[in-house]
Amino acid sequence: MQLNENILQVDNVSKYFGGLAAVSNCSLNIKKGSITGVIGPNGSGKSTLFNLISGNIKPSDGNVLFNGEDITGIPSYELFSKGLLRTFQIAHEFTNLTVLENLMMVPGDQSGELLINALFKPKLVKKEEAKVKEKALEVIEFLNLKHLSNELAGNLSGGQKKLLELGRTMMVNAKLVLLDEVGAGVNRTLLKDIGTAILRLNKEQGYTFCMIEHDMDFISRLCNPVIVMAEGSVLFEGTSDKVKKNEKVIESYLGRGSKIRDGN
Ligand SMILES: Nc1ncnc2c1ncn2[C@@H]1O[C@H](COP(=O)(O)OP(=O)(O)OP(=O)(O)O)[C@@H](O)[C@H]1O
Ligand SMILES: [Mg+2]
Repeated sequence: MQLNENILQVDNVSKYFGGLAAVSNCSLNIKKGSITGVIGPNGSGKSTLFNLISGNIKPSDGNVLFNGEDITGIPSYELFSKGLLRTFQIAHEFTNLTVLENLMMVPGDQSGELLINALFKPKLVKKEEAKVKEKALEVIEFLNLKHLSNELAGNLSGGQKKLLELGRTMMVNAKLVLLDEVGAGVNRTLLKDIGTAILRLNKEQGYTFCMIEHDMDFISRLCNPVIVMAEGSVLFEGTSDKVKKNEKVIESYLGRGSKIRDGN
């Protein structure tokens, strides 16, 4: 895999909420094939940056390029079909549907979505539905969720919901997946499983990941490089070891009264 090519470029992006600059003149690149970590104190603009990249909100200023194409302000459902996907800090599952049904709900290009096809081409719709189900079962197997396949998503633990979020990104041909604190509030065993799934998707299916996390152990296991945000822009970028030792980074955490979590 070409590691020198940028899959994503963020150029001088800003987002103001009233008078507050949540993201301020932020520039960064994500290399194709990488698992890039994003850390930073609470309120430093990490989730807002993801919202800007994934088309959930529009930037006040600046540009975002995906595979060289200007995607600034393109809504998330269009980016989704281009292979740019994200998960949310708070999982977005359908609580009254099973794990299997949740995965089958991920928008694809299913003919059944068009009423005219559902009415006049029922065989085609059935065949596609069977294909989607097969794919969903594959994803469930990959994520070791077989025992929960028919469980209502609302009954899953926090960690299992995060795995389901990751599973949703596997229902389509994702290229770049943004993970917003996929490991937060997850127990150590499940965190290990999530980490392994991320590594496998990266190595075996060529996913590029950009992930916001607070747990430095988890970040160190998976990510290179690590981007540190402070006050809406990039403060530092380097390996996790360099990040942990960097004075500016330590100061930015201390200044906010928070610390880099070491995973314990
Ligand atoms: N929709 C919004 N309206 C107004 N202010 C917002 C909005 N979204 C975020 N902010 C503000 O922008 C700043 C950055 O928030 P953001 O959620 O991006 O931080 P974060 O780095 O993801 O923090 P955390 O680590 O706590 O998740 C914060 O001061 C936050 O209160
Ligand atoms: Mg956040």
